[in-house]
Amino acid sequence: MLKRRELFHFLGAATLMASGVGQAKTVAVKSFRHYPFDPVAAENFLQKLFVPIGSGPFGVLDVAGPLTVRATAASFPLLPGRPSPFLLYQTEQSGKAYQNPILRMESGANLKVTLRNELAEPTIIHWHGLLTPAKMDGHPASTIAPGQSFEYDFKVRNRGGTYWYHTHAHNLTAKQAYNGLASFFLVEDEDQRRLTQSVDLKLGETDLPLVIQDKQFDGEGKLRYQPNGQEAMMGWLGDIVLSNLTPNAYQTVAPRTYRLRILNGSNARIYRLAFLKGKERLSYTVIGTDGGLIERPQTTTEAFVAPGERLDILFDAGQAKAGESVFLKSLPFDPMENEGDAGSMPGMGESTSRLDMGAEFNILKLVVGEGARVELKLPAELSQVTPIPLAGAAKRNIKLSLQGMNFLINGRTFKMDEIAFDVKRGSREVWTISNPKLGMPHPIHLHGFSFQVIERLNSPKQIAGLAKFGKGRTVSDLGWKDTVLVWPGETVRVAIDFSHDFPGDQTYMVHCHNLEHEDAGMMINYRVTG
Ligand code: C2O
Ligand code: CU
Ligand code: CU
Repeated sequence: MLKRRELFHFLGAATLMASGVGQAKTVAVKSFRHYPFDPVAAENFLQKLFVPIGSGPFGVLDVAGPLTVRATAASFPLLPGRPSPFLLYQTEQSGKAYQNPILRMESGANLKVTLRNELAEPTIIHWHGLLTPAKMDGHPASTIAPGQSFEYDFKVRNRGGTYWYHTHAHNLTAKQAYNGLASFFLVEDEDQRRLTQSVDLKLGETDLPLVIQDKQFDGEGKLRYQPNGQEAMMGWLGDIVLSNLTPNAYQTVAPRTYRLRILNGSNARIYRLAFLKGKERLSYTVIGTDGGLIERPQTTTEAFVAPGERLDILFDAGQAKAGESVFLKSLPFDPMENEGDAGSMPGMGESTSRLDMGAEFNILKLVVGEGARVELKLPAELSQVTPIPLAGAAKRNIKLSLQGMNFLINGRTFKMDEIAFDVKRGSREVWTISNPKLGMPHPIHLHGFSFQVIERLNSPKQIAGLAKFGKGRTVSDLGWKDTVLVWPGETVRVAIDFSHDFPGDQTYMVHCHNLEHEDAGMMINYRVTG
């Protein structure tokens, strides 16, 4: 019998366990380390972080009118001096060109985008976390063929926060997002402005959107995406870790507070984020999650962030002295804690990533520069998050399961025209999402509405140890969410208010944001009806 834990380490290459102290902290280190961009090796962090500026790649685009966004096959030097084929959203505004722009808009403003598909395959844009009518959501049913266009026109109803947009092409989401089709969507509002003022933040300087992605490259430095059976089932893992498309990035910082709007834009990798100065863990402050700011700043030394999730944090770089370095890292964890036996999976191949899920590695190096220490007082209150009333809420079970090689939701695999269930517009529901022990962690994502995490049950120890917010909840569960990580054996309860002002039936989806799982059909439609 092969334990699921071992599936992750399903390797011909030697797998070394970190120590003999039992299962809790096993970290596999493949024998053929150390390669040029090995993120475990601190000395490899030599590339200047790509920070968003006024135009160009990741340029901040303050949307001032209708945009034409072209999905294009282009090339991008992901590894220094080695252009790789890459997919980019390209657009122009006021004579400036942007690639994968960070779109920024005021809450309540109208977004008008014409998507032109200049790829050789179908595509569509989904606005992850935005509350749109179903027709504007970028459901895979809206996928357009090469040469076609799609018109988006909707009001940005969300509160201020760090959202994102990415391809949702039917059966091609994982490959296209991995190859580039994703970026940020920032929504501004009063709460955001108050924070920006009180912490004296400037986007692109002290307020840094930071998308973390793991990728594989071939011998020529070209992006590689070829999941074998094992990787199609468990999710594709990279072994080179990019921050804002920069491998092994560093950034020089002043001894003051920075805002990092972290987006896990990886296909399958979960990160356990911490800041380390040498062996010393430094504290940081979580200020927001998927759907904007949380109520009060929460100081922590670690938090998990799963694919699709955002974690908005403040980090005081003044905790280190001039000349010192601090690493944003992913700490070791056991993705399979709580698991049962999986049975063996012969003939599925082995993981091609040199960096296992749960391995410890560096993500970003912060080099503290000279300058006077700037100490800022954080506001005691960031925003208001009114709890969804639970009295009278309908109850619904969302059961994740594994059947053969397929992960299912309520026993179903995705069928375009099948509606798994209806919910009533204006009703409130509590969903009990349960993951069997025989499984793996799944980040479950909801289209159409934000939700609130109200309880975690039967959490693995590494999560239970972080449950400081009542009912088993961790700092990553606070505020408004659109994606929640459910560990093996765990049950997560979320509250959803299905109120919106879109007339007629609206079909949205619930899916796993492990993108290989999503494309394999771990996704269902649900419908909001009058
Ligand atoms: Cu970010 Cu349906 O996904
Ligand atoms: Cu989404
Ligand atoms: Cu999944």
